[in-house]
Amino acid sequence: MRIDIISAVPKVLESPLGESIIKRAQEREIVEIVIHDLREFGLGNYHQIDDIPFGGGAGMVLRVEPIFSVIRKLQAERNYDEIIFLTPEGERFSQQIANELSLKQNIILLCGRYKGIDDRIRQALITKEISIGDYVLTGGELPAAVLTDAIVRLLPGTLGDSESALLDSFQNGVLDAPLYTKPATFEGMSVPEVLQSGHHAKIDQWRSEQAIERTKQRRPDLL
Ligand code: ADE
Repeated sequence: MRIDIISAVPKVLESPLGESIIKRAQEREIVEIVIHDLREFGLGNYHQIDDIPFGGGAGMVLRVEPIFSVIRKLQAERNYDEIIFLTPEGERFSQQIANELSLKQNIILLCGRYKGIDDRIRQALITKEISIGDYVLTGGELPAAVLTDAIVRLLPGTLGDSESALLDSFQNGVLDAPLYTKPATFEGMSVPEVLQSGHHAKIDQWRSEQAIERTKQRRPDLL
């Protein structure tokens, strides 16, 4: 899979996508993540990428030409399954959307900044708008990193069997059971007996009961 991310502040993306599991997935060539600095496509000597809104109002708007230039250039190189704009006005991101996007070959993530983007970009290029939640961030970079992380960990080979994404909370519609590791007792708090019993059928049963109980208490809407 290939993910192209277009951003006016590409440095914000470096660390979330350059460490640990996502870094390893790129090294193993499971995913190619290419970050494009929008400013390189800016206009004139100052590489301008934004301007004041027609009709007045506060804040700056990302101009149409730099974004068209970078997306048209990418489209000339390969076909894209989705061109996604990160915005609080988009569809709410979910595990299901991550699952669907993980099956695509090539996607573009466009990060907004300032007040927003010229609407002609939406009309002509964007195929999907996604929000990571009902709050407003300073830009789409962290949301793009969230999408990328959620998608890449689903790609075959990114996680080992023991970390398998199929066992995640949400994937089977319930939250995870509580987890414990050594020591068996800490400050008077003990690990449940059943987990130390070595009886796998009982452990599985306990985990599924706990998972359902936790989901009832915390996220009844999932049941
Ligand atoms: N850009 C700013 N806030 C955002 C959000 N909540 N989701 C996606 N993109 C955003």
